Amino acid sequence: MSHPAVQQTPEREAFYAKIDGDNLTALWTVMGALITPEPRSACQPFAWRFDAIRAHMMEAGGLITAKEAERRVLILENPGLRGQSKITTSLYAGVQLVIPGEVAPAHRHSQSALRFVLEGRGAHTAVDGEKTMMEPGDFVITPAMTWHDHGNSSSEPMFWLDGLDIPVVQFLDASFAEGLGEDEQPITRPAGDSHARFGRNLLPVDLKHTRKSSPVFNYPYAETREALEAMKQRGDWDPCHGLKLRYSNPVTGDYAIPTIGTFIQLLPKGFSTARYRATDATVFVPVEGRGRTRVGDTVLEWGPKDIFVVPSWRFVTHEIDDEAVLFSYSDRPIQEKLDLYREDRGNA
Ligand SMILES: [Fe+2]
Repeated sequence: MSHPAVQQTPEREAFYAKIDGDNLTALWTVMGALITPEPRSACQPFAWRFDAIRAHMMEAGGLITAKEAERRVLILENPGLRGQSKITTSLYAGVQLVIPGEVAPAHRHSQSALRFVLEGRGAHTAVDGEKTMMEPGDFVITPAMTWHDHGNSSSEPMFWLDGLDIPVVQFLDASFAEGLGEDEQPITRPAGDSHARFGRNLLPVDLKHTRKSSPVFNYPYAETREALEAMKQRGDWDPCHGLKLRYSNPVTGDYAIPTIGTFIQLLPKGFSTARYRATDATVFVPVEGRGRTRVGDTVLEWGPKDIFVVPSWRFVTHEIDDEAVLFSYSDRPIQEKLDLYREDRGNA
């Protein structure tokens, strides 16, 4: 809503000062900043190099154990949102390190989390009584209020990206958290149980009620990659997205996590995407390939395991040097449910 600037007069200034003492503010002095004609975010486009994060994390590994830290994580703070533990206005991102032999003790909280494995294989996450081994490119979820702990019984350090809806839960003042008091939760289901029951286009015959999060909690990269590879044969490239899929909850068809949309896309060598913008600020993690992403005048160069962020409603294009696979996440499910989501495919 555009609004002409309201003139300041001594009488008006005196009035504003008087009502201020009673915790009142005149809407006409602030309306232009509250109801903007289009999104205006402090969130900035930015890319983090994995090599730099990795070096800092190895140093952190010598400073504090995963057990003492509870989670040894470096938070990726958007340069426009420093001090707020946010990578976008609504979402959090961190990189976690678990060293061989370590355990990140069992806890649970209202915030939903995703893991996206960057480096290492053979570490595990246990969720809701089931353990899953993790490999690079695997997408693992820990739904709200489910017990989860992480361990690394391999001989390599393990790094993954944590994506959480922390700012959303903070905004709503709805945070609860507790520790189990044990390093590891009791394992009540064999490894692979969730995937067998829910991850193969089959569902338990008398399934009645499930939570909103997907009952599949590991979406292995091997299967995701295979799907993208098979899709290449038809060559049905979207000008803005290449080949793009979203991770889904097989019970409802909705997103895997109710608050966080997660996506995977393949872009071929030499491809340049058409201009695109959407209201969901998005965090990208290249799994394979190299390229650059333009957000207005900002150019973000990226390679495997780097992490970059595109703010709300900024035109974005991707230029691909080597065939690339990009994982991404955003608050799109929230915006869609609230009739707020909007996209603009430029001239495509
Ligand atoms: Fe957690």
